[in-house]
Amino acid sequence: MNEITEFIKKLPKAELHLHIEGSLEPELMFKLSERNKVTIPFKSVEEIRAAYEFDNLQSFLDIYYAGAAVLLKEEDFYDLTWEYLLRCKEDNVIHTEIFFDPQTHTDRGISFDTVINGIDKALKDGKEKLGISSKIILCFLRHLDEEAAFKTLEEAKPHLDKIVAVGLDSSEVGHPPSKFQKVFDKARELGLLTVAHAGEEGPPEYIWEALDLLKVSRIDHGVRSLEDEKLVQRLVEEKIPLTVCPLSNIKLCVFKEMKDHNYRELLNKGLVATINSDDPAYFGGYMNQNFTETALALELTKEELALSSKNAFNASFISDAEKKSFCDQVDAIL
Ligand code: ADE
Ligand code: ZN
Repeated sequence: MNEITEFIKKLPKAELHLHIEGSLEPELMFKLSERNKVTIPFKSVEEIRAAYEFDNLQSFLDIYYAGAAVLLKEEDFYDLTWEYLLRCKEDNVIHTEIFFDPQTHTDRGISFDTVINGIDKALKDGKEKLGISSKIILCFLRHLDEEAAFKTLEEAKPHLDKIVAVGLDSSEVGHPPSKFQKVFDKARELGLLTVAHAGEEGPPEYIWEALDLLKVSRIDHGVRSLEDEKLVQRLVEEKIPLTVCPLSNIKLCVFKEMKDHNYRELLNKGLVATINSDDPAYFGGYMNQNFTETALALELTKEELALSSKNAFNASFISDAEKKSFCDQVDAIL
């Protein structure tokens, strides 16, 4: 193992962009399809894996929503989350803020409570047994209408103690942040923070809208911000973090190859860039794989990797004291 890979393994990390449904490994998908007697269009784990070739975001989302159909009971959401936490432990991810897509499940007749209780119980066990701290972010599906998002927010009300923020994901192009301005206003009134996917496939204008209309604390992806100099200036000045997902961007053809990725340029421009895994079961790797492939292709230094990690702790929704304690742990290994 080379020096950078060793360094990445030792580096304490925070993950800020992870869809829990995107951590459903083919093995668990297969097991749950049998346990719950849900038919999936694959005969084996190998067949599932072979289907993971994507041309763009939508071609991935079609398979991702189909895969989620095996999740029915609270224990399924628990198992899914627990398996992800074991990967965190392996990769020295000590804090994680995970997205879940309630509408993917409530639209199939699964109750909001079933979903969030399974996830939340696993996260509590993750804190107790693995020492991993965490937060939950509820994502609205942007291909659905704002009324459906309002209904979901209503269902979330008994669980506000478990949710730190709302986010916006799914098919970006044609579904600008402005479509969800009112429901984000309502979420903020309820005391929730806000984030949104923007500038993954969509234009810089969507990032402006996420900032101005949805008042987001972070931009998820945001790699297209470099197309707009004024926007970069704003993001730098206001220290708005970007939760970048390098392997995802390659798998979904946002960049052709990792050497073409703009991650290093984002850092060099002074943006608060972070490295995350997005949907690791579908995109070929968890946090250390994302850090390693990005570092090797873009020749990132240990200092840049440590900065990426500290950016993530500082961009997270934990207290200032916790941020300092985690950042001190990063400094200790430098
Ligand atoms: N849902 C899961 N992964 C996503 C991504 N990369 N972009 C938008 N929506 C998503
Ligand atoms: Zn995402």
